[in-house]
Amino acid sequence: MLPIRRVLILLIPFLASVAAHKEPKTPEEIEVQRALQAAAYHCAPAVEQFTAARKRSWAQKVLAGRPSLPGFDELFASETYADLPGSASDAEQTVMGCSPLQETRIQNNTCVLTPVVTEGPYYHQAGHPVRQNIAELQPGLLLLLDIGVIDVETCKPLPNVLVDIWQANATGFYAGHPVPHPHLVGEKPQVGGKRSGLLSAFPRTIEEETFLRGAWPTDANGVAQFTTIFPGYYTGRATHVHTKVFPKWTVLPNRTFTSDHLAHVGQFFFDDEINLRIDEMHPYSENPIRHTYGRTRNWRDSLNIFEDSHGPEGQYNPVFKLDLLGGVISQGLIGYITMGINASASYDNRWKG
Ligand SMILES: *[C@@H]1O[C@H](CO)[C@@H](O)[C@H](O)[C@H]1NC(C)=O
Ligand SMILES: *[C@@H]1O[C@H](CO)[C@@H](O)[C@H](O)[C@H]1NC(C)=O
Ligand SMILES: *[C@@H]1O[C@H](CO)[C@@H](O)[C@H](O)[C@H]1NC(C)=O
Ligand SMILES: *[C@@H]1O[C@H](CO)[C@@H](O)[C@H](O)[C@H]1NC(C)=O
Repeated sequence: MLPIRRVLILLIPFLASVAAHKEPKTPEEIEVQRALQAAAYHCAPAVEQFTAARKRSWAQKVLAGRPSLPGFDELFASETYADLPGSASDAEQTVMGCSPLQETRIQNNTCVLTPVVTEGPYYHQAGHPVRQNIAELQPGLLLLLDIGVIDVETCKPLPNVLVDIWQANATGFYAGHPVPHPHLVGEKPQVGGKRSGLLSAFPRTIEEETFLRGAWPTDANGVAQFTTIFPGYYTGRATHVHTKVFPKWTVLPNRTFTSDHLAHVGQFFFDDEINLRIDEMHPYSENPIRHTYGRTRNWRDSLNIFEDSHGPEGQYNPVFKLDLLGGVISQGLIGYITMGINASASYDNRWKG
């Protein structure tokens, strides 16, 4: 347990910078965010260890002297993390024991927490399939995602929570939303202000499209893995992957799900340097706005989503740690991230625009 004095020292900078945040927030929202961040701060050393151990374990399987990738069945076999300390076969230990803060410094590049950030207009309330490979036939750079979930109230991994993700394709379009409203064709992005660079949301006109959407439960170690492609960009937004986490859900006969318990809404980002490299690769280079508005850099993200997702002082970093899958970038990437969520929280599962 932390000595009281240390807790106070940690909280003071949070309070100061939360209050200074530009986005108007109700006192209740500020309080919830402050509590989450304080709790997550405490978990930082455990999170760092959790991510590093997964990285070692998976990288050994994927990269260890093999000329080609193993099949996905092998990658996602239940024993992927069998050799992690604290995995199911070693139930005596826990991976995520909370260690006192003074033992490990907070890592600047550790994703301690992705605070609750807006889900945006492209979520489909019904119809996200329960599956690990969400790519369907979308072309792009292979991207494997390894998403760890911990509960900020216990600093322990959360097994069996549903991690739902959705993202744009290589040229910046969401499944089901291919074109703007007819009366907004040719709309120019907002200039200046918080919505700078944004267009009005494209409506859902193709009901049946599901590419680059899917949800999968975390395993016994609190990890959900996905196969996808690197997302492309669209005007106004830094490149990102959306996520929601549901502690309880029901799988429907058509392999989609429903849930009335949403515990977390967030977005994950990528290093700007990598984004710029991938912009040069086909089919990312075919982005229709490449020669007009171009990509939005992380720090210019509209609505301050990238900035706000970092929390006060930039201590929370929802940016994937990326490794190359092969000898060259075109063979694909693995992204690791750990998010801290409050499993007992419950949010309204609806975007308010
Ligand atoms: C985090 O990294 C940035 C950029 O490298 C640096 O300017 C900043 O001082 C670092 N913050 C902490 C808390 O280490
Ligand atoms: C699956 O079934 C649900 C409930 O009947 C429905 O709302 C949803 O659109 C269906 N999804 C697909 C992809 O067929
Ligand atoms: C992305 O989706 C849009 C809309 O469905 C489609 O026109 C475009 O061809 C897709 N991009 C790629 C690279 O296939
Ligand atoms: C988690 O959510 C519950 C229910 O809203 C709340 O009582 C609790 O304070 C939250 N914990 C943290 C660390 O935010």
